[in-house]
Amino acid sequence: MRIDILTIFPNMFTGFLNESILKRAQEKKLVEIFVHNIRDFSTDKHKRVDDYPYGGGAGMVMMVEPIERCISWLTAARKYDEIIYLTPDGELFNQKKANQLSMLNNIILLCGHYKGIDQRVRDYLVTMELSIGDYVLTGGELAAAVITDAIVRLIPGVLHDETSALNDSFQTGLLDSPVYTRPAEYKGWKVPEILLSGDQKKIKAWRFEQALEKTKKRRPDILKGTPYEEDY
Ligand code: 6GU
Repeated sequence: MRIDILTIFPNMFTGFLNESILKRAQEKKLVEIFVHNIRDFSTDKHKRVDDYPYGGGAGMVMMVEPIERCISWLTAARKYDEIIYLTPDGELFNQKKANQLSMLNNIILLCGHYKGIDQRVRDYLVTMELSIGDYVLTGGELAAAVITDAIVRLIPGVLHDETSALNDSFQTGLLDSPVYTRPAEYKGWKVPEILLSGDQKKIKAWRFEQALEKTKKRRPDILKGTPYEEDY
């Protein structure tokens, strides 16, 4: 898979892309991630990427030209499955979307700033608009980082234990059950006896029960339409 991120703040991605799982996934050639500075595609002598909004009002608007030139340069080289604009008024990103996007070959993530981008970019170039939640960020960069992380960890071979992504919260339809590691007791805080029992059948049942109870309490909304809905 190939992900191209378009931003006016490319440095925001350097730390995040070069650590941990994202770093390893790229080293193993399971994903290629490229960050492009939209400013490099400005033909203006001051490298401007934004201008005043037509009709007046506060804030600047990102111009069509540099974004269009960057996208055209990419699409001339290969076919993209989706050109995604990150915006708080986009469709809500969730695990289902992450699964779908992780199966694509090439995607573009376009980060906006200021008051937004010229609507013509959205009308003529963008194929999907995503938000990561009901709050407003200063730009699309953190959203692009969140989406990249959620997608890349689902690519086969990225996680060591392939089953670990399958058992994630949301992937199973339930929140995760609690986990513990050594020591079995710390300052009198004990690990549940059952996890030390070695009885895999009982442990599995206990984990399911814990996950179900947590989900009922915290996120009854995700149980809607499942057999566990009863108390909803
Ligand atoms: Cl995708 N962008 C911005 N600027 N704010 C957000 C967002 C995106 N998703 C939630 N808030």
